[in-house]
Amino acid sequence: MTIKVCVAGATGWAGSALSKGIYQTEDLEMAGAVSRTHKGKTLQDVIGLDGCDLIISGSVGPDALAGCHVMVDYTAPEIAKQNILTALDAGVHVVVGTSGLTDEDYADIHTKALEKKRGVLAVGNFALTVVLLHKFAEMAAKYIPQWEIMDYAHDAKKDAPSGTAREMAHRLSKIRPSRLTIPLDQTQGVRETRGADMTGSQVHSVRLPGYTLSLEIIFGMPDQKLTLRHDAGSSAQPYVDGSLLAIRRVHTFTGLRRGLDQVMDLDEK
Ligand SMILES: NC(=O)c1ccc[n+]([C@@H]2O[C@H](COP(=O)([O-])OP(=O)(O)OC[C@H]3O[C@@H](n4cnc5c(N)ncnc54)[C@H](OP(=O)(O)O)[C@@H]3O)[C@@H](O)[C@H]2O)c1
Repeated sequence: MTIKVCVAGATGWAGSALSKGIYQTEDLEMAGAVSRTHKGKTLQDVIGLDGCDLIISGSVGPDALAGCHVMVDYTAPEIAKQNILTALDAGVHVVVGTSGLTDEDYADIHTKALEKKRGVLAVGNFALTVVLLHKFAEMAAKYIPQWEIMDYAHDAKKDAPSGTAREMAHRLSKIRPSRLTIPLDQTQGVRETRGADMTGSQVHSVRLPGYTLSLEIIFGMPDQKLTLRHDAGSSAQPYVDGSLLAIRRVHTFTGLRRGLDQVMDLDEK
């Protein structure tokens, strides 16, 4: 069966690369595309998809979703939740690439997905190397009780922390909270310099020119420390490969799942 896909944010950096990836894949079909500024134009005109006369819609609604099995969101945090709930109401499974949604947003999305008996797969970072980073950090957190998360990105990134850092903190919270030797409220000096407490992890976001997107988890023990670090490159291809996998698998469950590993077989044999 061909899976028909709507990409919200089809003209953006990640969404246009994904739309090209879907267009070149035999088992998937571009059936909807959304961008406010390019409403009414074709994907061929806007992102150069040769022979693709799909008309871009201005919002996620009945036109964009008509006949679609899966909606992928690569837009912006201020609109993503509304897009996701609209797609679920229309009976469409959802893959979420957009970062910036909170744990509370995801709780609402999970409730709606269960009600509509549809799957939602939200992935803070679709790159395989990040999926492995999450796994390795979860292993380390079982043995090392104290860690902090460093989130680095370019100065134009609006959301903080990144989706990758949020997902990391969320996943580590399922293992345990990081132990603090000095409780935060006993900090002498400027409390904010200790970062933000996100479900039991201290997260520090740096936004400066010169960075792309990097994440470090520093695990500390007396007289030793372990640093796990991921550095993203400049192309969107790693996100495309992971998104295509998510599109193919999101129909296999109902409710919300977070992390690409949820639909991969990464268990050690
Ligand atoms: N999970 C991952 O692995 C991963 C990887 C890459 C990026 N991301 C995340 O994906 C999101 C998009 O990133 P990007 O770099 O592709 O951004 P971008 O280049 O700015 O593209 C955003 C796209 O969304 C559309 N859009 C924005 N606001 C909209 C709205 N209110 N209604 C409808 N469409 C809207 C834009 O078109 P118009 O402005 O014309 O509407 C554009 O097509 C970000 O949250 C980013 O952090 C996640």
